[in-house]
Amino acid sequence: MEFIVDTVNLDEIRDAVEYMPIVGVTSNPSIVKATSPENFFDHMREIRNIIGKERSLHVQVIAKDAEGIIKEAHRILEEIDNEVYIKVPVSYEGVKAIKALKAEGIKVTATAVYDLMQAYMALAAGADYIAPYVNRIGNLGADPMDLISALSDRIAVDGYDCKIVAASFKGVQQVRDSFNYGAHSITAPVAVLKQIFANPNIEKAVDDFNKDWYSMYGEGKGIC
Ligand code: E4P
Repeated sequence: MEFIVDTVNLDEIRDAVEYMPIVGVTSNPSIVKATSPENFFDHMREIRNIIGKERSLHVQVIAKDAEGIIKEAHRILEEIDNEVYIKVPVSYEGVKAIKALKAEGIKVTATAVYDLMQAYMALAAGADYIAPYVNRIGNLGADPMDLISALSDRIAVDGYDCKIVAASFKGVQQVRDSFNYGAHSITAPVAVLKQIFANPNIEKAVDDFNKDWYSMYGEGKGIC
């Protein structure tokens, strides 16, 4: 099970990796726009400095044709490092690019996945991660968990070395369901992950425990 954060906000990333068991950072051009860094590659290198090589960094291409995607992938790797996962939308051209990038040994995250057959194509093309868009699929009236569950079974049955990184989240319930239906990883905005701890019962439980402790040993007297 892997938690990844879907942001390029440096403060959010610093905070998230310090507090939570975060194993990577993803983004897309819209997420980059929310921060609008002056120099994209300087910013991505700064993210790498924060997260280190032990965490994964997934960077999305802009080009729509396979040739352009491959060219951009090389530039991304040159500018950041060879460990970056290249995020490629699973279009017809995208699948061609995924095959070519994998033939070169480049790490690929297949993204913009709305449909199971799209995911199967990315899987057969050799993607390392596949990102079904949970909230967006739900908005189209389909059940994203059907896709995650079938894809997870297919990966296990055929023995693919590929992880489902469920994406596009608006709430914790979608994240929980994704794991429960077979996603190996999720990538979510930091605000969604922090909702996990927003349950007021957590603080109330701690306050009640502390009240009992202080009633025995004196107000404000902790263990140390
Ligand atoms: C992953 O990085 C995806 O691009 C992202 O989660 C999509 O999220 P959205 O549907 O909120 O735009």
